[in-house]
Amino acid sequence: MRKFLFTIFCLLISHVLSAEELKSPNGDLILTFQLNNNGVPAYSLQYKGKTVIETSTMGFMINSSISFNEHFVITSIKFDHSNEIWQPVWGQQKEIRDKHNEMIVTLNQTSANRQLNIRFRLFNDGLGFRYEFPIQKDLRHFTIKEETTEFKLTGDHKAFWIPADYDTNEFPITTSKISDIAGLIDNVRREPLAATSPSSNLAIQTPLMLKSKDGLYINIHEAALIDFPAMSLNVDDKNFCLSAHLTPDKNGNKGYIQTGSVSPWRTIIVSDDARDILASNLILNLNAPCSFDDTSWIKPTKYIGVWWEYFTGGGSTWAYSNNQDIIIGKTDYSKIEPNGHHGANTAHVKEYIDFAAQNGFDAVLVEGWNEGWEDNSAYVKENVYSFTKAYPDFDVKQLQQYAAAKGIKIIMHHETTSSVISYERQLEDAFRFMADNGYSAVKTGYVGPIIPRSEYHDGQWMVNHYLYVARVAAKHKIMVDSHEAVRPTGLCRTYPNWIAQESARGTEFESFNGNAPDHTTILPFTRLMGGPMDYTPGIFQGDLSVYGSNKAKLSTTLVKQLALYVTMYSPLQMAADLPENYKRFSDAFQFIKDVAVDWDNTYVLEAEPGDYITIARKAKGKNEWYIGGITDENAREALIDLSFLPKDKKYTATIYADGKDADWKNNPQSYTIRTMVVTSRTKLKQKLATSGGVAISIK
Ligand code: NOJ
Ligand code: CA
Repeated sequence: MRKFLFTIFCLLISHVLSAEELKSPNGDLILTFQLNNNGVPAYSLQYKGKTVIETSTMGFMINSSISFNEHFVITSIKFDHSNEIWQPVWGQQKEIRDKHNEMIVTLNQTSANRQLNIRFRLFNDGLGFRYEFPIQKDLRHFTIKEETTEFKLTGDHKAFWIPADYDTNEFPITTSKISDIAGLIDNVRREPLAATSPSSNLAIQTPLMLKSKDGLYINIHEAALIDFPAMSLNVDDKNFCLSAHLTPDKNGNKGYIQTGSVSPWRTIIVSDDARDILASNLILNLNAPCSFDDTSWIKPTKYIGVWWEYFTGGGSTWAYSNNQDIIIGKTDYSKIEPNGHHGANTAHVKEYIDFAAQNGFDAVLVEGWNEGWEDNSAYVKENVYSFTKAYPDFDVKQLQQYAAAKGIKIIMHHETTSSVISYERQLEDAFRFMADNGYSAVKTGYVGPIIPRSEYHDGQWMVNHYLYVARVAAKHKIMVDSHEAVRPTGLCRTYPNWIAQESARGTEFESFNGNAPDHTTILPFTRLMGGPMDYTPGIFQGDLSVYGSNKAKLSTTLVKQLALYVTMYSPLQMAADLPENYKRFSDAFQFIKDVAVDWDNTYVLEAEPGDYITIARKAKGKNEWYIGGITDENAREALIDLSFLPKDKKYTATIYADGKDADWKNNPQSYTIRTMVVTSRTKLKQKLATSGGVAISIK
């Protein structure tokens, strides 16, 4: 017996003191896991012999003050690996390889008999790890007070960051050293609703892009955010240590957990080549496979919309009237005087449907079709909108027939102004109404503070809500494009009907002068790491003063707007400008008409966060390629190597380029279009204007 106990003791000690290693399939990455002297779980990460993450602690504080992050012993360590290819329903590639090595560590807090497992997956492009809370005798339910996961960096890296905020990610992106964040963060924190942001903390959001002085690109985010609050990162700028900052509810709790569940994956993508960050599928690979058997109803979509006219300052309104006394369900709109500027009226929507049909679009988004917009900016009432009652001048049946006859879908709009309880009550009816009337996609919106008031946009309760909407939508074969929702974490693999999200500053901010020239050179490295963005590019008339009151100017050239269809990946792409502007520049518009929205393959040709991106993609099932190149405020020459083309074949390339005299401030609409014969040996050199671009179609 004594010998047996001694053996157990030695086994435990050896586990405590020895470090366990896991290597990536190609050996470039090494993960080390260990328990330090106090039984605190910790990990570190190396890439090609360089430290990416120094020894960093893991775990939680739970209930009022129980440490679920120390006094552990290791009870088992198991290894596994995978090398599989799967086909996404839509995506940047038709096939994705999931090749990783896995280590599962089982930990026990012996005195309290609490068990915690940590699962590590190491890919050639990075690390994912998650906490697993197994079903156990002495722990059934608990509340997370704090997650104590650290990401200890090796130095004062360059960071591309937005401030933490429990309710929004619609910030300009700041580029600075970590040590400069503290001095800059107050300039970019949100004023009006600042009370809902973690203002006392020095904290930033994920996906976070970092670059070290010795040339490592590091991206920190999370994958498969389900039934858990979203994670921001506290910044300790003395020790360059980032740590998990979970979104609380207003009781200060950071997650209500029932054992038998898992946390989202914490992800660290790393390379010495920025292009690998954009090419990474690590976050998708860490999400569960598609949960639907039939996906035939999920279709990548190119659309136009009754939308930009609400932002130009041209007078069009979402609301039907100026009446402030409307009560949804009680007011008879046919007795209300219209304001005369209502955008979503039948005749006007028909014009959009005509334009969509003439130009090969799939769909028309119509905002402002439903009762309730008179109260849109109140943010105080619970019952603001009906999602089944159209305004009297929007003829649902007639428009449905008109659109169907022309092969066009109408995209439904559900702005909730975050009256979420009221939305959930109407959800089944709303989706049935859509299905009955031939709608197959909805754009949802969560502007303003959440009702119930105790919840934040990025807290566990709302995280569950967004997924609930996607699941109920799937029952009705409806695709979802959510705006103002929590930023994505690759869930579109499991729920591919959640086809796109906003969750960052999109084109709408251009109408308030909100996006800097480098914005779209950073977004693919940050926001888009979690999934496609409904960025809504394609604005040709960038000087909005032509419409009257709005003095805003877009921060890009016209050609850069074209290039965004390729550099900003999304299976849902809008041509956001007014049809009249596309008619004026019909030759440039041809690129938007041609460009694909679903791909067999993607080739990241050039990339540096904050500076430039050049990407080529092969259209799904077609011998057509599209290339987009963009630059920040600096003009540059893109080097476009076409060696991805099949060998020994000739193709015609149509090159949409900034004019010689183009620049985003004074001459954004100067462009040239030329064609040339190209082969896989062609290497194009192409000048991009300041905040300019290049767009190429190859057939
Ligand atoms: C904000 C969304 O991002 C925008 O696209 C929409 O038009 C407005 N909310 C109104 O719902
Ligand atoms: Ca928005």
